[in-house]
Amino acid sequence: MKRPVQRGLQGLRVLRVRSGTAAGAAKPVRSVRLDPMTPDEYPAWEEIAVRSYAESQVRAGNWAPEVAIELSAKELLGLLTEGVSTPGHNLWVARDVETAARVGTLWMIVRSQGGYTEAYVYDLWVESDQRGAGYGRAIMEAGAAVAKERGADAMALNVHGYNHRAYSLYRSLGYQVANSHMRLPL
Ligand SMILES: CC(C)(COP(=O)(O)OP(=O)(O)OC[C@H]1O[C@@H](n2cnc3c(N)ncnc32)[C@H](O)[C@@H]1OP(=O)(O)O)[C@@H](O)C(=O)NCCC(=O)NCCS
Repeated sequence: MKRPVQRGLQGLRVLRVRSGTAAGAAKPVRSVRLDPMTPDEYPAWEEIAVRSYAESQVRAGNWAPEVAIELSAKELLGLLTEGVSTPGHNLWVARDVETAARVGTLWMIVRSQGGYTEAYVYDLWVESDQRGAGYGRAIMEAGAAVAKERGADAMALNVHGYNHRAYSLYRSLGYQVANSHMRLPL
């Protein structure tokens, strides 16, 4: 069953886009290939993923700094129970197709939920010295192409409200806000 495209609620929590509807890029068009992450590459990725997820949860106001690393590790390792070989979880290293340089990573699953098949992006990461050059867009497009091949009719992810860069990237790719989680400090 095809999922209807969801239109513009205001808010930042979950965004969905029908696969294959990415908008055009204004910068140099980058192409990446997604190579399965190797067991050798995994530990360094895991360390960065745990740290950056903890930092983002603190910055979003969801977790106190003193518990963030522990909670982040628990959540991440609770999902990736067999590390890089966890069934159903795709961990990729993105490389520029022309230079073969490593430019980022993508963690994605394809799942059946609510009668639909969707790809859920747990983590997108562009190497800090490669940001702003079009690789985030290229990685998300490569992930969407794989998702479509595997039968997904939509991409979904969460983005924190403070992360304007990621939010702009997803919006420019055509993602729409599907749900919104709000907070008022008291
Ligand atoms: C967010 C992130 C993935 C973006 O990747 P990137 O390679 O820098 O993004 P791109 O160069 O492909 O830019 C694509 C779009 O992102 C937005 N963008 C890029 N740089 C931006 C900036 N400095 N400020 C605001 N928006 C920006 C723009 O909409 C841009 O579209 P354009 O090419 O039409 O201008 C990258 O900054 C990153 O890895 N950040 C840390 C981890 C993270 O936040 N991951 C996302 C978790 S939800």
